[in-house]
Amino acid sequence: MTLDQDSKKTLLRKIPHGLFICGTAEGNTINGFTASWVTQGSFDPPLVVMSVRADGASHEIIIRTKKFSLNFLRADQKDLAAIFFKPQQGLGGRFDSTNYELGKLGMPLLTNCIGGIECELVGNISKGDHSVMVGEVKTAVLINDMEALNLSSTGWNYGG
Ligand SMILES: Cc1cc2nc3c(=O)[nH]c(=O)nc-3n(C[C@H](O)[C@H](O)[C@H](O)COP(=O)(O)O)c2cc1C
Repeated sequence: MTLDQDSKKTLLRKIPHGLFICGTAEGNTINGFTASWVTQGSFDPPLVVMSVRADGASHEIIIRTKKFSLNFLRADQKDLAAIFFKPQQGLGGRFDSTNYELGKLGMPLLTNCIGGIECELVGNISKGDHSVMVGEVKTAVLINDMEALNLSSTGWNYGG
């Protein structure tokens, strides 16, 4: 069976995505990256599903600490999303551009966005260039209930 690569790419790029900042922390080291492959996975318990680049710095941190945060960006925060996917000088450098606090699980929560959740890692499938991680939502902080940033509004692509 041969996979039609062009059709696959066109179709997978039609999956709608939001844009989030995933936060990690290990000891005094914080990190964060822009994530779009995020969706809800269950009501009860509340689960989210996120795919994480296997060769990214955050991947091993999440596997070791079994925790991560997801920060929900407002529709006007495209510039911040761009900062969090560009290469950084050292871990944590991206946070110089925005304020954050540590939540009850110790994960970085941006103070200027719609809000954030902290999750415990309860599942992981490592296969291919991204790992599919399942997080159980343990804390939620709503700051400002506004329209969220979505990938299609940015002109960027991540998928296919
Ligand atoms: C629009 C867009 C969406 C992205 N979505 C994801 C994603 O869902 N998961 C992921 O692991 N990386 C995603 N990335 C890539 C990471 O943001 C990028 O590789 C980042 O540098 C990883 O940071 P780290 O190495 O500090 O973990 C996305 C990049 C862009 C431009």
